[in-house]
Amino acid sequence: MKLWAGRFTKDTDERVNSFNSSLSFDCRMYKHDIKGSMAHAKMLGKCGIISNEDVELILKGLEGILADIENQKLTFDNDAEDIHMFIEAELTKRIGDAGKRLHTARSRNDQVAVDLRLYLIDEIKEIIELITELIEVLIKKAEENKETIMPGYTHLQRAQPIMFGHHLMAYVSMLLRDKERLSQCLERTKVLPLGSCALAGTTYPIDRQMVKDELGFNNVCANSLDGVSDRDFAIELASDISIAMMHLSRFSEEVVLWCSWEFKFIELDDGFSTGSSIMPQKKNPDITELVRGKTGRVYGDLMTLLTMMKSLSLAYNKDMQEDKEAIFDAVDTIKECLITVIPMIDTMTVLKGNMRKAAAKGFINATDLADYLTKKGVPFRDAYKISGSIVGWCVLNDKTLEEVPMEVYKEYSEIFEEDVFDAINLETCVNMRKSEGGPSKESVEKQIKLAKEKL
Ligand code: ARG
Repeated sequence: MKLWAGRFTKDTDERVNSFNSSLSFDCRMYKHDIKGSMAHAKMLGKCGIISNEDVELILKGLEGILADIENQKLTFDNDAEDIHMFIEAELTKRIGDAGKRLHTARSRNDQVAVDLRLYLIDEIKEIIELITELIEVLIKKAEENKETIMPGYTHLQRAQPIMFGHHLMAYVSMLLRDKERLSQCLERTKVLPLGSCALAGTTYPIDRQMVKDELGFNNVCANSLDGVSDRDFAIELASDISIAMMHLSRFSEEVVLWCSWEFKFIELDDGFSTGSSIMPQKKNPDITELVRGKTGRVYGDLMTLLTMMKSLSLAYNKDMQEDKEAIFDAVDTIKECLITVIPMIDTMTVLKGNMRKAAAKGFINATDLADYLTKKGVPFRDAYKISGSIVGWCVLNDKTLEEVPMEVYKEYSEIFEEDVFDAINLETCVNMRKSEGGPSKESVEKQIKLAKEKL
C-alpha cells in the first residue's frame, strides 16, 4: 500500500512501480535522509508542532533504522518508491503513530533536495581531499625534478627547454583552481531547502533557522519555489568535476605519450600497467587511457543534468529524479580516477636521461641563440632570421647548434664569439628563464613554495 494511496481506487500497475521507483539508486542517501529527518523532527518538537514524546520516539526509531541498515539487518525493499518512503514506512512500522507525524510540514520535494545537498556536501569534501593528495604527490615529483631538463612543446613539436618539475607544476596550478572551485561549490550547496515543503511553504510555525544550524548549512533558501526546484548545485558540481576531469585527461594523454617507445620519458610501475593477451612485449598505460575515456562520460553527466533542467516549469517535476544517477556517476567516476592516478604517479619512474637526450635534439635553444645576438645589439627580427638560417645549416649538415664550428657562426654574423656556446647550453637556457612563473630551477622552487602555502 502506497503512503499516498488515499485518493486512488486501484493499485499502481506493476510496470509503473519499477519505472517510477528511484530506490535502487537513491538508497545510497539513507544516512542523509535520516539526518535530515532527525533535524526536522527536533524542530517540530521545539516549535510545539509535535510532542516531545513523539520526537523521542522518532529519533530513537531513526537511530535504530540507521544501525540496522549499516549492519545489514534491514535491506532495501524494492517495492518502496524511494528512500524517503522506505524509511518513513519502516519508522511507522516500528513506532506507530509518531512515525506518521514526522512528515508534518514537509514534502518529499524539499526532503529530496535537502538529502541530495547533504549527500553531495560529503562527496565534495572527499573529492577535495583526494585532489589535495594528488597535488601533494605532484609537488613531491616536481621537487625531485626541479633540475630535470626536458623539451617543452607547442603543437607537440619541441619548442624550448623546461624542467620536468615546471611541467608538473603546471598541473598543480590547474588542480589548485579545481580545489578552489569545489570549495566555493561546497559553500553554495550549504543552502537549506527544507521548509519549502511541496512548493509553497507551510502554515505551521516552523523554524527553518534551527534546521539550518542543526544541519550545518550557511543559509536558508529565500524562496520556496526555488528551494524545491533548484539543482544548480548539482550542475555546478558536475561542471567543476568536468573541468577537473579535463585536467586529468590532459595529464593522462601526456603519460600515454611519455610511456611510448617514441618518448620513453617515464616508466609506470608494473602494478599500474597492464599487458596484452597476444603481444608478450606490451606494457600498456591502461589507467590513463581509462581516465581519458571516463572524462567523456562525466561530460555526459553534466549534459544530462543541464538538459534535464532545460525549460522545466516551476516548481518540482519528476524529471528531476533523473538528477541522481548523473551526479552520482560524476562523483563516483572522479573519485575512482583520483584514487588510481595518485599512486600511479607516486610510483612512476622518471627517465631523466631520455628527457635530456630529447631536449638536446630539435634545436630547442634556437630562441636563445637569437636572444644572444639581440643582447649584443642585433634587432630581434634580424637575430631571428640569422638563427633560422643557422638551424637550416644544421639540418643540412646533421648537427646540433652546440656542434656548429665557430667559423660557420662567424659566416652568419661577425658578432658571434666563443661565449655563444655558453649561452645556448641547455642548462643555461632553462636557468636563465628566471622570469616570474618561468621554468628555471629557482622559479620552480618558488612555485612549489607558493603551492605549499596555498595547500
Ligand atoms: N524520488 C523523488 C526524486 O528523487 C523524490 C521526490 C518525489 N516527489 C514527488 N512529488 N513525487 O525526485
